[in-house]
Amino acid sequence: MTAVKRIGGDEAALRQVQMLIGGKWVDSACGEVLEVEDPAHRRPIAVVPRGRAEDVARAVRAAAEAFPAWSRTIPRDRGRLIARIADALEARLEELARCIALETGNALRTQARPEAKTTVDILRYFGGLGGELKGETIPLGEHVLSYTRREPLGVVGAIIPWNAPVLLAALKIGPALCAGNTMVLKAAEDAPLGVLLLAEMCQEFLPPGVLNVLTGLGEECGAPLANDPAVSKLSFTGSTEVGKLIMRAAADRIVPVSLELGGKSPSIVFPDANEDWVVDGIIAAMRFTRQSQSCTAGSRLFLHRDVFDPFLDALGQKVKSLKIGDPLDEASDIGAIINEKQFSKVCGYVEEGLTRREARVVIGGLPPKEGPLSEGYYAIPTIFANAANDWRLAREEIFGPVLVAIPWTDEAEAIRMANDSHYGLAAYVWSHDIGRALRTAHVIEAGWVQVNQGLGQSPGHSYGGYKESGIGREFSLEGMLESYTQRKNVTVNLMR
Ligand code: NAI
Ligand code: MG
Repeated sequence: MTAVKRIGGDEAALRQVQMLIGGKWVDSACGEVLEVEDPAHRRPIAVVPRGRAEDVARAVRAAAEAFPAWSRTIPRDRGRLIARIADALEARLEELARCIALETGNALRTQARPEAKTTVDILRYFGGLGGELKGETIPLGEHVLSYTRREPLGVVGAIIPWNAPVLLAALKIGPALCAGNTMVLKAAEDAPLGVLLLAEMCQEFLPPGVLNVLTGLGEECGAPLANDPAVSKLSFTGSTEVGKLIMRAAADRIVPVSLELGGKSPSIVFPDANEDWVVDGIIAAMRFTRQSQSCTAGSRLFLHRDVFDPFLDALGQKVKSLKIGDPLDEASDIGAIINEKQFSKVCGYVEEGLTRREARVVIGGLPPKEGPLSEGYYAIPTIFANAANDWRLAREEIFGPVLVAIPWTDEAEAIRMANDSHYGLAAYVWSHDIGRALRTAHVIEAGWVQVNQGLGQSPGHSYGGYKESGIGREFSLEGMLESYTQRKNVTVNLMR
């Protein structure tokens, strides 16, 4: 059984893909399809079912039917199946990585392949946590036994975006299923193919209905899932705007939510950190090699005034040397933006920066109108110096390679500006003075602060946002326990 039918022979051939409901590969009830585009060449590469309310209802029913048996399966055995999915995925890593690169526009070497590898790590990590679903005993006296159980919630409705689609799918599937829940997951309309490939590998090992994967649009497929009365937990990654809709849907039926939303993360560079490795760190933190389409992008650079110009010169030189081009080319460092809408949104912010007289363009600008790069949604890394923290460019999540550099002299002022944001996802602090760096880390209002590095998340992190960046934690044992289980207390009178 396979979800994919190729129309034509090569990698770029149009694929017709189905979605997964109750262990079966199916079309949408209405029979309509959505096109998936390769953003590096602006051409359709696949059609997927246009799932709607009827399909959502069917998938939720399948997940609800699978729940009793799955929730009673010994946790270690559930974990073992998840670990086997990780092995299967590892065996098809390159295929998965190329699929991600093709549909997202993320460069294979710098982003898509690392995403596929981290997905294996995530599934393996959660596959090993079955034994950690432990309860406690409460010391109420010799004649009483009072204990807690960690029970699953039921059917989880998960909705994910397109920026790291397969990794984010695994980040929901791994902990939710290990904890004994079943799931209906809606893939993002812009990047469903890698997620369906992952679903295919999951389906080799899981009983039918434990994982159901739908494709469709946000309002037509995501909204009915969020509002389905049989869904007892919502887990969403995406924009803050849609996150609020999800939370409202959850409020109507008092079901728990996990939200991983946007960010506008600060990077604070102290004057002693005007060094090459910090320049490299800022590039990594800004996620330039994934077109900065990352919620943790360190997109507000607070640079001490004493090192402002030389640091930016070095940064500009290094960023300029990154190669923008075909995501499937091993030589490319930077690929394409996901779709036309995001591309024009990013260009709009660049245009706005170019009209600001105070802003100095360190590098970048609008994308070329001709030449090979004009064939895809290729944005050019752009850095605006002398920005102010109250500009729209410094307040809104651009989700594209546009970095604003803001000078500071007084440490307290730098921290005040860093915290002056409705977001609070990630932050980066750069200094050799570890006491000063850690004092800064402690007063920053963000869920994840890195000192002297700009890396991605690893399994085991308690990852999640402060303020409008979200609710709940992912990536970790605590995340699994808090997000995907509910505690029951049982108290027994031992004297009867
Ligand atoms: P989005 O939040 O609209 O889409 C994310 C997911 O939610 C997709 O699967 C989409 O189909 C679904 N969705 C959309 N509307 C929905 C609704 N009414 N009910 C239920 N589900 C719905 O994000 P979009 O439009 O792709 O990107 C817009 C902006 O969101 C980006 O520019 C960026 O600022 C932010 N974003 C943040 C991400 C993160 O990792 N936190 C990921 C993607 C986008
Ligand atoms: Mg949207």
